[in-house]
Amino acid sequence: MTKPFVFVTRRIADEVIQSLEEDYEVEVYDSDEVPVPRDVLEEKARQADALLTMLTDSIDEALLDQASNLKVIANLAVGYDNIDVSAAQNRGIVVTNTPDVLTDTTADLTFGLLLATARRIPEATQYIENNQWQAWSPYMLAGADVHHKTLGIIGMGSIGEAVAKRATGFDMTVLYHNRSRKEEAEEALGVNYRSFDDVIEQSDFVVCMTPLTKETEDMFNMNIFKQMKSSAIFINSSRGGVVNEDDLYEALKSKELYAAGLDVFKNEPIQSDHPLLELDNVVALPHIGSSSYETRTEMMWLTAQNIIAVLNGNKAKTPVN
Ligand code: DGY
Repeated sequence: MTKPFVFVTRRIADEVIQSLEEDYEVEVYDSDEVPVPRDVLEEKARQADALLTMLTDSIDEALLDQASNLKVIANLAVGYDNIDVSAAQNRGIVVTNTPDVLTDTTADLTFGLLLATARRIPEATQYIENNQWQAWSPYMLAGADVHHKTLGIIGMGSIGEAVAKRATGFDMTVLYHNRSRKEEAEEALGVNYRSFDDVIEQSDFVVCMTPLTKETEDMFNMNIFKQMKSSAIFINSSRGGVVNEDDLYEALKSKELYAAGLDVFKNEPIQSDHPLLELDNVVALPHIGSSSYETRTEMMWLTAQNIIAVLNGNKAKTPVN
């Protein structure tokens, strides 16, 4: 009997591949950085029982139409906007993601980005590297305080809660808006539920944690930036598609908004000529929210566990459909 075929769209930890190889025929697209080309992905999807995918792989209806053998798509990310989940659902294909294991790591990065943006840390590093530090001066590279300020979280999932927890250590007041109230988090962390407008208008830091959906696409636009305080700092570590980047650029350039810290962009990877990178008040990172060795490895194990569960006829550990 032939073994089920698992196609992995990027190089991942050897030990995870080896564990899959115990029961399956496994093929890995042998690249660390470059995404699998579409024609290769289509060819492999036609044969695969399982796909282990990255957020850079577009798993759309056209691809699923060819994947007659496919039973599970295990995405190495908590977000799954790269997958047409309802098309997969209609074909009886299980889609899984990697929640929880990356919560603290992504919250660390989000809070780090907030600190780096407020206190201008990358600019300060650059200052020394460029030999600009000729004398100490009272307002040299002065930034904005973080402690005792108001943090507004839009999208209070588990990563939002973990960001709020970090903010409490900085004596911040935390406001949040979410589709549903999080009473346990309110009690445990002292966070306060507010309307979307109140969070936007009253916060010194607005942290976007909403997933990208049809409803949230471009939701942070000029109208919203204008509602924010002109001293506000906008942080995004969810998905670039929730932000209208032209409007963000205008808002930052015209000082409608003080600064932005961005780990995600509409079209990734961005190039160094991206307009947002011209601005001194932008700190940009290359989508590294969950990127620690420990967490990325745990995410890989979770994708493998999901594949094994589904191919054995069991319920996936972390299905999204
Ligand atoms: C995710 O898991 O969705 C993150 O964006 C990856 O870092």
